[in-house]
Amino acid sequence: MATIIDGKLVSNTIKENIKEEVSKIIEKYGKAPTLAVVLVGSNPASLIYVRNKIKACNKVGINSIQVILDEKVSEEEIKKEIIKLANNPDVNGILVQLPLPNEINKESIIELIPEDKDVDGLTKKNVAKLVLNEGGIIPCTPSGVVDLLKYYNIETSGKRVAIIGRSMLVGKPLSLLLTNLDATVTLCHSKTKNIEEITKNSDIIVCALGKPRFLKDNMVSKNAIIIDVGINRIEDKIVGDADFENIFDKVSYITPVPGGCGPMTVAELLNNTVKCFYIQNK
Ligand code: GUN
Repeated sequence: MATIIDGKLVSNTIKENIKEEVSKIIEKYGKAPTLAVVLVGSNPASLIYVRNKIKACNKVGINSIQVILDEKVSEEEIKKEIIKLANNPDVNGILVQLPLPNEINKESIIELIPEDKDVDGLTKKNVAKLVLNEGGIIPCTPSGVVDLLKYYNIETSGKRVAIIGRSMLVGKPLSLLLTNLDATVTLCHSKTKNIEEITKNSDIIVCALGKPRFLKDNMVSKNAIIIDVGINRIEDKIVGDADFENIFDKVSYITPVPGGCGPMTVAELLNNTVKCFYIQNK
């Protein structure tokens, strides 16, 4: 039977530390860090994520600004808003909630975020720093995964890790982060042949592909560690990318959905906002 990795517990510990850090910042600088969240349109999942991010800011004393733009807004309008936030010295972090509408060139928007306000770690400069293992701002969900592994004393050095999903928000940056932590990483995706052969020979499996209950018990070895990043809504229920009920007895650790990686993403966003504040107030 597996140990359930409690992302709520770990994220609350992180948030408590951030709250203390924010108090110290207010004492020293006379102001709290400020995060700006830009949301385009009304994607229901994005609305919930943004609401959770703002709520979390409030809880730890981080100021937040919401910029809500209509679905039909032009790329130029979005760019104008980002440039305003980029030039505003009172804004320490900028997050553009993804996905953006299809007609919008996502990269050209993200590249307008200054490197030191890029709380998502998505700009080319921060990605390059991750590739080079030179610090920088690391994307929130991958940071959350690594912090969960650390909290539970799960070794990564020399371990075989399979990551399923190669997104810029999770799979790709996580593959770099874990490589930097001396894991041997296989990054699997929709064109990977015989995924089960790879996952069965892995010590740690990270699912980040967005397919409900994709990872079945015949795809994992006994005592594997399962990190499930998926958040899928089916019939009013939230389920992950792993078939939790059927693999629970076989594996040694597993993250639940909800209550695993999700809360960690939000906690790491707060962490990155404080980090950006310090970079700007050196
Ligand atoms: N959409 C889903 N997850 C994320 C995230 O971590 N950051 C942003 N910007 N958009 C997202």
